[in-house]
Amino acid sequence: MPNTSISFRLFMAAVLPLAGLLFYTTSSDAAAKGSETKGRAFYRQICKDCHTKGAKGGEVSPLTKTQAQWRTYFQKGKHGGSETLGKYLNETQMLDVQAFLINHAADSPQPETCGK
Ligand code: HEC
Repeated sequence: MPNTSISFRLFMAAVLPLAGLLFYTTSSDAAAKGSETKGRAFYRQICKDCHTKGAKGGEVSPLTKTQAQWRTYFQKGKHGGSETLGKYLNETQMLDVQAFLINHAADSPQPETCGK
């Protein structure tokens, strides 16, 4: 079938950029700037007091949001009303906690509830 190679080429022309984009997105996730190990520790120290079941912030864990939702959340940096997350975290801690939450989000390869 002589047509096959043409449609195959068209197919590849459409698919390859998409695959590249997907790879780019995935690899930039893996290269999240912060340290997720430190982020997990900070999260437990700083956020968990208010964010367990029954506490005043309600249960929040990496699973509360998807990776995209966490990204948006940190881009906005808001934490309820006019308060910002900067109230609880300095810049480095912010990157670390962000890496932890994103890398273990609901749709991440390793979802995590952050150890009850
Ligand atoms: C002093 C208590 C307290 C601390 C500490 C705290 N939070 Fe909160 N958090 C709250 C409360 C209360 C709310 C609910 C705000 C609202 O409903 O408007 C909230 C809301 C949230 C939400 C919104 C949940 C949703 O439905 O989207 C997220 C996410 C969140 N906090 C993350 C964090 C992170 C990350 C930290 C640590 C850096 C943290 N919080 C530290 C009290 C706290």
